[in-house]
Amino acid sequence: MSLSLLDELILEFQSAKDASEPNAFLGSLATCDSSGQARVRTVVIHELTAKGLLLVASEFHQKWRQLSANPKAEIMLWWPSLGLQYRITGKCISQSPDVASARWSQLPPSVRRLDLAYGDGFIPGQAIESIEKVSETVAERSEGKSIETTPSHVRAILFEPEEIERLKTSPSDRQHDRRRATLIDGQWHCQQLVP
Ligand SMILES: Cc1cc2nc3c(=O)[nH]c(=O)nc-3n(C[C@H](O)[C@H](O)[C@H](O)COP(=O)(O)O)c2cc1C
Repeated sequence: MSLSLLDELILEFQSAKDASEPNAFLGSLATCDSSGQARVRTVVIHELTAKGLLLVASEFHQKWRQLSANPKAEIMLWWPSLGLQYRITGKCISQSPDVASARWSQLPPSVRRLDLAYGDGFIPGQAIESIEKVSETVAERSEGKSIETTPSHVRAILFEPEEIERLKTSPSDRQHDRRRATLIDGQWHCQQLVP
């Protein structure tokens, strides 16, 4: 039996890690805001398995609000050293606090301190007087809080693929291999596409 594109994606994620591809763990997550405007940003891919792609975000982030209102999203992966682009559409499902804690505990302390500082009057994306005020506020608000205790606003999100498009570039002859797989009634259906 041939591999599904999801199986290929999982294997190629491993190849990207083995090749120390700098972008291996990074993806671009696109959502739609309440006005219909597309929004895209870099996120860490914490895990990529047959279940999907695991992400971590704060409930204070715009992305969380956008995904709560509309869980349909797209993630783009670009691994230059492998000449591979994946565009994956699917839906986001919130995971249990245990999953969030397991991932959050692996993040660098500085990232965790920022998360600990979020809340009333210090919300990601809000205006603030200066960058110095950011460090001051993080230091003040995270003081006395343990970086071992995951704040409840930190959430793990499972992005479940419904459509996967793989583009393997071939710079020498431009015979790019473009394929798309769509999940229909639990089965992946794959087509070769004009690149
Ligand atoms: C390398 C890199 C990794 C990032 N990883 C995450 C992440 O895993 N989760 C996250 O919420 N934001 C992450 N960010 C920050 C987002 O790109 C974004 O700036 C921030 O979360 C605000 O996005 P939002 O307002 O759309 O929610 C990362 C940024 C960079 C540059």
